[in-house]
Amino acid sequence: MNETLKTLKNIRTIHGNFTKQNISDEDLNTILQTTLRAPNAGNMQTYSIISIKDRDVMKELFAYKGSVALVFCADHNRQVAAAKQLGHNFKPNTIGWFITASTDAVLAAQTASITAQSLGIDTLFTTALYRGDFTRTKRILNLPDKYCFPIITLILGYPKSEPKYLKGRYSGKGLLHDGKYEKLNETEITEMIEQYDNLENRLGIPVLGHWEKNNKHLLDKIFSFWGNGGATESSKQLYDSLKLTGYLDAEE
Ligand SMILES: Cc1cc2nc3c(=O)[nH]c(=O)nc-3n(C[C@H](O)[C@H](O)[C@H](O)COP(=O)(O)O)c2cc1C
Repeated sequence: MNETLKTLKNIRTIHGNFTKQNISDEDLNTILQTTLRAPNAGNMQTYSIISIKDRDVMKELFAYKGSVALVFCADHNRQVAAAKQLGHNFKPNTIGWFITASTDAVLAAQTASITAQSLGIDTLFTTALYRGDFTRTKRILNLPDKYCFPIITLILGYPKSEPKYLKGRYSGKGLLHDGKYEKLNETEITEMIEQYDNLENRLGIPVLGHWEKNNKHLLDKIFSFWGNGGATESSKQLYDSLKLTGYLDAEE
């Protein structure tokens, strides 16, 4: 197996318990420069990355602390500034521009994560900045008023202890399709639920703890944890924050 495949097959998350060890400037620079090679729509790189080394700021923003946090923002500010200087009236005020910029940002984030793991540095993704007070986030990070949204954060660091096992992945029907989409039948749905229930598959997530106590199935626990539909307070906050960025203006 080549080194790239080895890195990819061993990718895993450290859920916040990082040591105080710093990552070297050289490694951080390698991660950032490699990240910039990520594919992106029209080679416009409609994202920006904010590096945070202050652990108190990390704790305040994400509740997680590592050596460095990289905040990946969907961001059209460079394009808007260039368009203005060239006399164009370019406004990325549609959901399409937002999705494209988010895709650019997420591909860059995953490239950063893989690069870090290839260097022996561990990672944690979080969407913590979706939640809470966006005005406060904007103030702390000095985000521009429009066309910039922190879509995902990657925390980098060294783990306090090694995870006991590599988490599994669902491997049944309905995930990989050949040529056309095939919906699950009832037997396949039952098999899927059983896959989640089989502890050897390691499909649980830490935040849910011991699901067996009060739930018949792991997925019972997950769906009750996610809620029963409808806009939750945090999804309303997310929508309001997105509205502030201007990315939804054309749809209003
Ligand atoms: C969009 C996204 C958000 C995530 N948010 C969190 C988070 O807030 N806290 C956390 O501990 N893990 C978070 N994770 C990590 C996932 O829980 C983890 O990737 C998943 O359980 C699989 O585990 P593994 O990466 O160790 O294989 C997030 C991952 C993604 C892609």
